[in-house]
Amino acid sequence: MISGLDDVVAAETILSDVDGQAGRLIIRGHSLDDLVDHSTYEDVLALLWEGLFSDSPSADEMVVLLGEARRKVFEHLKSADTQLVGQPTLDAVRSLVARLPDGDDIDSALQLVAAPAVFTPGILRLQSGRAPVRPSASLSNAADMLHMLRGELPTPEQTAALDRYLVTASDHGLNASTFAARVVASTRAGLASATLAAISALKGPLHGGAPGPVLDTLDNIGTAEHAIEWLQRALDKGERLMGFGHRVYRVRDPRADAVKEAIQRLAGVGRVDPKRLRLAEAVETAALQLLARKKPDRPLQTNLEFYTALLLEALGFPREAFTCVFAAC
Ligand code: ACO
Repeated sequence: MISGLDDVVAAETILSDVDGQAGRLIIRGHSLDDLVDHSTYEDVLALLWEGLFSDSPSADEMVVLLGEARRKVFEHLKSADTQLVGQPTLDAVRSLVARLPDGDDIDSALQLVAAPAVFTPGILRLQSGRAPVRPSASLSNAADMLHMLRGELPTPEQTAALDRYLVTASDHGLNASTFAARVVASTRAGLASATLAAISALKGPLHGGAPGPVLDTLDNIGTAEHAIEWLQRALDKGERLMGFGHRVYRVRDPRADAVKEAIQRLAGVGRVDPKRLRLAEAVETAALQLLARKKPDRPLQTNLEFYTALLLEALGFPREAFTCVFAAC
């Protein structure tokens, strides 16, 4: 039986190609493996936007323009009243995005890319009674996001780790949030309208809302020896194991390894709790074993969100903000 958009050509794109059988992701002609090792987020953004605007910026120009866009959107945090700040983090960020210009030019696009990077740390700080930190336009998007989160400059390793995540999740074919955005954009509504649809689709726990619940799973399991029993009980109750399975991939999601590499590099400089990483690896092994047994005909492998949860936790983001960081990609 055909379900969802299986075998339906809903759109064509030059941006990325997802090969679900081989587990390969190609972004604008470059393999993900190549991009994560050799490109920054700003490089990839310039690549993705090449030819889409009459004045598409080069990678060097992108660093400057994105820095200016962060400064511009920061001003909207002043309008965040108590009611807005009291909302769940993603809802508050989405409400602020709704205040941005709904144009279709490059300035609108830059502000929409900058918005979650600025609003996420800004709202988190307001929620904990602290003043937002002004963006520093000379930093990269990844470095500035961490700077605005903590009020101090991140280490080069932390910046590289977040940058690698932003590159990894920058584009991925016609996933649910991209599809939602494209439906809205096809009506010629503005870019802010399309982005709001995308953020709303991203919010769901089966899509961009998965990494927070991944950490809940680790916390609930507690220690490696409880993994099999806890996960089996969850499956028996008909629950889904967060961070596993994918609509397109029938093999391991290549983005899971790209992000895991970032965690291992951070762990190498002592920035990841080794006990937490060992627990995650044990839970992953147990989950894959149980899923293979439960669904022998339906390969259910680790997806992007499993190690994303660990990475964002190690970088200091609270789990309620993980989906907002995804929206910044
Ligand atoms: N845990 C347990 N069972 C699962 C899981 C899982 N993680 N994923 C799929 N299944 C089961 C389903 O229950 C279903 O079983 P059934 O036929 O007995 O009803 C079968 O596998 C097929 O499930 P579908 O929902 O049809 O598969 P689909 O490919 O549409 O779902 C999805 C993909 C939504 C990602 C799913 O695997 C899932 O819910 N995963 C957990 C949430 C998650 O990690 N989401 C992040 C995805 S990556 C991203 O969005 C960036």
